[in-house]
Amino acid sequence: MPEGIAFGGDYNPEQWPLEVQEEDVRLMRQAGVNLVSLGIFAWVLMEPAEGVYEFGWLDTIIDRLHSADISVNLGTPTTVPPAWFSRKYPDASPMTREGVRVGAGARETACSSHPAFRAASARLAERLVARYGEHPAVVMWHVHNEYGAPLGECYCESSVAAWRDWLRHRYESLDALNTSWGTAFWGQHYGEWDEIDAPRWSHTVVNPAQRLDYARFANEEHLSHYRLQRDILRQSGKPVTTNFAGTVNCKSMDLWRWAPELDVIANDHYLNGEQPDNHIQLAMSADLSRSLAGGGPWLLMEHSTSAISWQPRGIAKRPGEMRRNSLAHVARGSDSVLFFQWRASRYGAEKWHSAMIPHAGTDSQIWRDVVSLGADVGRLAPVKDGRVTSEVAMVWDWESYWALELEWRPSGDLRFRERVDAFYEALWREHVTVDFVHPSADISGYRLVVVPSSYLLAESSAKNLQRYVESGGHLLVSYFSGIVDENDTVHAGAYPGALREVLGLSVEEFHPLRELETVTLTGGATGRIWSERVRLERAVAMRHFTDGPDTGHPALTANAFGGGTASYLAAALGGDDLRALLGEVLDRAGVSRPRDLPDTLELVRRGACAFLINHGDAPVTVTGLTGTDLLTGAPFTGEVPAGGVAVVNEAS
Ligand code: GLA
Repeated sequence: MPEGIAFGGDYNPEQWPLEVQEEDVRLMRQAGVNLVSLGIFAWVLMEPAEGVYEFGWLDTIIDRLHSADISVNLGTPTTVPPAWFSRKYPDASPMTREGVRVGAGARETACSSHPAFRAASARLAERLVARYGEHPAVVMWHVHNEYGAPLGECYCESSVAAWRDWLRHRYESLDALNTSWGTAFWGQHYGEWDEIDAPRWSHTVVNPAQRLDYARFANEEHLSHYRLQRDILRQSGKPVTTNFAGTVNCKSMDLWRWAPELDVIANDHYLNGEQPDNHIQLAMSADLSRSLAGGGPWLLMEHSTSAISWQPRGIAKRPGEMRRNSLAHVARGSDSVLFFQWRASRYGAEKWHSAMIPHAGTDSQIWRDVVSLGADVGRLAPVKDGRVTSEVAMVWDWESYWALELEWRPSGDLRFRERVDAFYEALWREHVTVDFVHPSADISGYRLVVVPSSYLLAESSAKNLQRYVESGGHLLVSYFSGIVDENDTVHAGAYPGALREVLGLSVEEFHPLRELETVTLTGGATGRIWSERVRLERAVAMRHFTDGPDTGHPALTANAFGGGTASYLAAALGGDDLRALLGEVLDRAGVSRPRDLPDTLELVRRGACAFLINHGDAPVTVTGLTGTDLLTGAPFTGEVPAGGVAVVNEAS
């Protein structure tokens, strides 16, 4: 791996004539590029006909990069099978839930379960490792591209065959399957394994437990396609990764299951150009990536210099935004600043996507900013490998995400990300760095654990949360958590079955609100989406509903349990209301945070360095922080200019 923080991006030289490729290397050096990802979409160039391999072109490019001291993250090209493959194996093209065969000419056009696709993928990995495994420029492997985006679940014949095997293995008996899926409802009992189909589109709701299992199965199929290649590539002794699309565009992969299978966590992040304060979502994506990496460093594999072509409007980044974005990822644990892509394509689907070299060439603001960012990144070597620690964790469980967003929930406004985003934003504005955790994880080290609408909660996970509180932890649970088990079956008794005891209450009935309806809490906070009838058992009420269907009943409660406290928020608060209330919970849990900074200043500590990122329009003065600003090389003056960044090495 490059020394220091890696800088560069996806490089697709196959789109350019030789003179441009030669210029590329010269410009990469000028910008301080030290790592590029190659080959991700180049299957047909590597294998122009079945079993005919051509790597001469790739040898030349890798050698050219090597002579310029630029390292290579070498991709396996399985995201886009060649036209010959699609013609020879038409049944390897994925099928959507609606039964539509995915057309060629795009990408993600092969099914991860198809035997011919698997065999071809393995052969490619073998060729690549044999040829480049010992090449000094090749420092790591990049398998496939963004598994699950856009193709999460495939409904083709190969998938259905693999699904039946997966079910046999999971349940062993049809009795167990029938019980878990609740097939007594709507007369769906299965008497033979081969009667079971994929939960394909139907004109009304399909069994939710079957859907949930299919989501698990689809995740495992992609994962096993990854593992197949990884095990071959690992023969080189070099690290293997695949790029996640963690919080953007992809909820179909359960990344808690993927993370242990990667040698280094890599994530792609794209800002939602339309969203105000989208740097908060960026921070969340980075925190999630670090959490997947177990708190250690990870790689930002892709982000954009400016506009993104696949959003409704290609919103350009404002002055300084690319720099703030890049450094925010590093602040939260990334050991790289990598982009999609090096040079803007002149043709093809992504020609309107920004790049490190725009169509305008090097006489452009983007290029000047890239060169200057490369210099900044070069100064951040002391940050590398530094760890970020957090006192607060938030539960993030993909299975619950999938389950909550199936059809026919008590309210169509219930969304996993809606609650996660609301809590995350409130914590971000409080300058609290967050780790994300699976509900079964070891959470004993945190002062506070937030559980935002974790609808699906296995009994064992609920017990884990309960033990945490018992031994002194603080838990904040939002409504509609702990409602069903892993089969989408309601936990027995009053809601929330899995958490009643630790919360010291029960919920008799849900009262979802109409679209624009709101409810008010004592103290004035306003809730949307949700109201419910809470019955106190041992918990005490801290706020009540003052209007709406549950007027006079508890809206926020606290329950002393063992050595800790479990709080419960029965309303969907947001913005300043949520922040104020969360502030009380953070205080009770003893979570330390700066009190005198504007909520536009991002402050994150990584190793010995404090990153100060000013997203506001006015300069911010920070007191009590001394050391060298790595970006200027001079002592930190205490001032962070509007839109500016300081990285203060407090150990200096
Ligand atoms: C994804 C892909 C890239 C590219 C970018 C564009 O993240 O991995 O190949 O398409 O989107 O934003």
